[in-house]
Amino acid sequence: MGVVGSGIMGMGIAEMGARGGWSVTVVDTAPAALERARASIEKSVTRAVSSGKLEADVAEVMSRLTFTHDLASLTPCSIVIEAIRENLEDKVALFKELDAVLSPTTVIATNTSSIPVAKLGAATAHPGRVLGLHFFNPVPLMPLVEVVPSLLTEDWATEMADGFTREVLGKKVIRAKDRAGFVVNAILVPYLLSAIRSLDNGVASLEDIDEGMVGGCGMPMGPLRLCDLIGLDTMLLVAESLYSEHLDPSFVPPALLRRHVDAGYLGRKSGRGFYDYST
Ligand SMILES: NC(=O)c1ccc[n+]([C@@H]2O[C@H](COP(=O)([O-])OP(=O)(O)OC[C@H]3O[C@@H](n4cnc5c(N)ncnc54)[C@H](O)[C@@H]3O)[C@@H](O)[C@H]2O)c1
Repeated sequence: MGVVGSGIMGMGIAEMGARGGWSVTVVDTAPAALERARASIEKSVTRAVSSGKLEADVAEVMSRLTFTHDLASLTPCSIVIEAIRENLEDKVALFKELDAVLSPTTVIATNTSSIPVAKLGAATAHPGRVLGLHFFNPVPLMPLVEVVPSLLTEDWATEMADGFTREVLGKKVIRAKDRAGFVVNAILVPYLLSAIRSLDNGVASLEDIDEGMVGGCGMPMGPLRLCDLIGLDTMLLVAESLYSEHLDPSFVPPALLRRHVDAGYLGRKSGRGFYDYST
């Protein structure tokens, strides 16, 4: 199995592959991201073992993972999952490169939150093996994956990816059509953006908006804290992409979200988002 992009999502997907017993090659262009991913996966596997959620030898799980910047090392993989940043041009360029180094029988999956899968498939010479596998954050804890065949995806590729996701990665699967946002984000993103809009409009404090949705609606986490967990840069890219597909005002990114991204307040991963995580 291969994973391209070792950020928040890629590291979790790679961890689940190694926990499922497969050899996993993780590719990232940033050496610091690869180092961070290795350390985070080791911490996460150790925690799963010590809490009794996973019966495994940590060193053995870690020995299944290879971290590299070399895309060509993915050639032997049966499935490669792309988890680089949510930008159409970057993903199209990567899919062209992947197409060149992988055999036509290697399934290529994208973890995109909002980019049409068909656009990525169409960038390759073998679009029948390209589909969406949309994971949720944090990957080791969230049970669901959306399986998204495009109009171009062939059935064998969907069946392979569906079986792999259930049996190796241990996830529950739902099928979704290739519409930006699929099932979950098409419903979730307008909710999160309206929480940011409420904050921007001064309806209530940060804490009270979050407390309102936790205490009043039974949400496991407040929407603004969830935005910080997702990453505010990712939130902005996802909202822009959903808006450009649906032209629905509920997907318009609020100015407050843009200003946070402009300021480098990207959420938990940068130490500051709507909340401060520096202490
Ligand atoms: N963050 C979430 O909650 C979440 C949830 C579901 C899906 N997603 C999707 O997953 C994807 C990744 O999101 P993330 O939050 O993990 O991003 P991230 O910013 O944490 O990580 C992206 C990684 O990709 C690397 N990268 C960028 N271009 C590359 C390239 N050409 N080749 C190799 N590596 C490259 C970067 O160095 C970085 O380490 C996005 O498409 C996002 O929409 C994110």
